[in-house]
Amino acid sequence: MRKIIIDCDPGHDDAFAIMTASAHRDKLDTLAVTTVGGNQVLDKVTANAQKILSYIKEDMPLAVGQATPLIKPIHTGEDAHGESGMDGPNFHEYNYKISSTNAVKYMHDLISASEEKVTIVAIGPLTNIALLLRTFPEVKDKIEEICLMGGGVDRGNRTPTAEFNIYVDPEAAKIVFNSGVEIVMAGLDVTEAAMMMDDEIELLKNKGKASRLTWELLQFYSKASKRFGFEGSALHDLCTIVYLLRPDLFKGVKYHVDIETYGELTRGMTVGDKRPVPDKTPNTLVLTEVQRVEFIKFFVESLEILDERLKQ
Ligand code: BDR
Ligand code: CA
Repeated sequence: MRKIIIDCDPGHDDAFAIMTASAHRDKLDTLAVTTVGGNQVLDKVTANAQKILSYIKEDMPLAVGQATPLIKPIHTGEDAHGESGMDGPNFHEYNYKISSTNAVKYMHDLISASEEKVTIVAIGPLTNIALLLRTFPEVKDKIEEICLMGGGVDRGNRTPTAEFNIYVDPEAAKIVFNSGVEIVMAGLDVTEAAMMMDDEIELLKNKGKASRLTWELLQFYSKASKRFGFEGSALHDLCTIVYLLRPDLFKGVKYHVDIETYGELTRGMTVGDKRPVPDKTPNTLVLTEVQRVEFIKFFVESLEILDERLKQ
């Protein structure tokens, strides 16, 4: 069974990734969920992780990570995720244990103690992961790969050239992409194609508890997507977990990817070297295509697995 750590900033689409990992706990052993400031400030995204994990009755350890990027002040994603960072549903109560307030050390301890290699699923700014790799470089040998949502070759969403997770902490992203660890990049090239349409969302409304929560989250999230000019809701972060479970639904190309940290118009850009003979050995599998209909079907079925579990 693949061992993973989910480093996140919930976030509507982070919540979908967590729920899908939980639905498939027979295939993915989530050693921990760790939080990082991003879509909202750290306290809020940590509270959102607690809300989701308690709602789905999980017992994955939760650890709190870095509040701010390595160098620059935090830039939150309120326009997409609202005041709470996960606007929409009302969570009446949540009381989820925090296992550590030092996520970087916690990740290190888990990875060191694991007999098998661990996959890091990074779906927020890369601050925690950069600190992990810099502070404890010995863990690199025990990381299977870093499967991340971030970037996009030749496209951005936060700016014309930069995707949100990379834009928030480009210095951290630069450390991660240059770490020597294998990277799978689910960037905008693929995550903006992983759209859930309104008619598909509507079918979730009258099902079980996990589907209903997803419907409620998407009521807010899809409005934001429409404001950004999309036809449906891009389920960005979910692509990472679905890729681990169903790689057959994706296509990708290996490039050397590096991060622009200086440019006035390009800070946070993921630069893929597409030349036939690149300067450096490719370090990243850049996902480029997803079978949208099958992807959504898999998500809906994953929620149904949770619906059944939550009946008990
Ligand atoms: C990424 O930014 C956040 O708003 C989402 O949670 C996702 O991780 C998409 O650009
Ligand atoms: Ca996220």
